Amino acid sequence: MDMKLRPAPVKSSDGVDVTGETVMNRRQFLRYGFNAAAGVLTASLGTLGFASILMPPSAGSEGNLSVLYWAKGREDDAWYGPKHLQPMLKSDFEAEAAKSQIGVAGAQGVWNGVPVNVTYVPHSKNAGKPLVNNVPRFQMTEGVDVTGKIVGHFEDLSDADPTIFPSDDIVMVFSRCTHLCCIPGWQLVANDYTEDTWTPGTGDDKGSKLFCICHSSRFNPTVLEMNSNTNRSNGQKFNYAGIARSGGPAPMGLPLIPVSVTDDVIEGMTTYLDWLTYCD
Ligand code: FES
Repeated sequence: MDMKLRPAPVKSSDGVDVTGETVMNRRQFLRYGFNAAAGVLTASLGTLGFASILMPPSAGSEGNLSVLYWAKGREDDAWYGPKHLQPMLKSDFEAEAAKSQIGVAGAQGVWNGVPVNVTYVPHSKNAGKPLVNNVPRFQMTEGVDVTGKIVGHFEDLSDADPTIFPSDDIVMVFSRCTHLCCIPGWQLVANDYTEDTWTPGTGDDKGSKLFCICHSSRFNPTVLEMNSNTNRSNGQKFNYAGIARSGGPAPMGLPLIPVSVTDDVIEGMTTYLDWLTYCD
């Protein structure tokens, strides 16, 4: 499958300058993801240690779109610690969510060398229930650009491309903060924002947030919206489907990456890639 991608200055793994390419196939994406990861790694050394996942494209990542757990440094305290670098299974999330009072579970991950956050939200179970505390579901809303101006509604994007809506109750986002590109974590720190609670609406008062430890930005994986950001390399603006920024200095939410679940394994889809360009 071929897909459109906004140009970014990047070399492929074999040194070919692919700057300006606007269409790539799945194989090229896997290379691109790897190279994008190299940028991620450069920016993240000393924080979460993503360097150790660097693999040559031919040594395992190429052709494999499954999402892997990432628990480096948290092997003993994250629920997925013993599963570090194993493929994420939906049944793992369901089992962990069953221990949560609100039925939500999340984990850090890595997808083709790219840091991601994955959250299980029991939307299909709760969508028909009254909108009350601690009954989490997806909420769709408007989102903003860097100036705070509303750019559109999530449904403007999901109507045009239904694959954007999280399938299988799994929300996966590109884990690079829209503030200064740190890697937000799924409950890496315990505080009011990451309590095991959920409140309707889009406010920042409670509810299992992704938290960026660099400057305390918060993101709500149950609120889906349209955002706008800028390709850092060429200044081109683009809209994207994301989860809401709910607090802190980050100006916008984090980009959604569509997933599919095959034989219980969570795989990222390469149909929607606009999010790749704002942190290189
Ligand atoms: S980089 Fe995330 S809050 Fe600053």
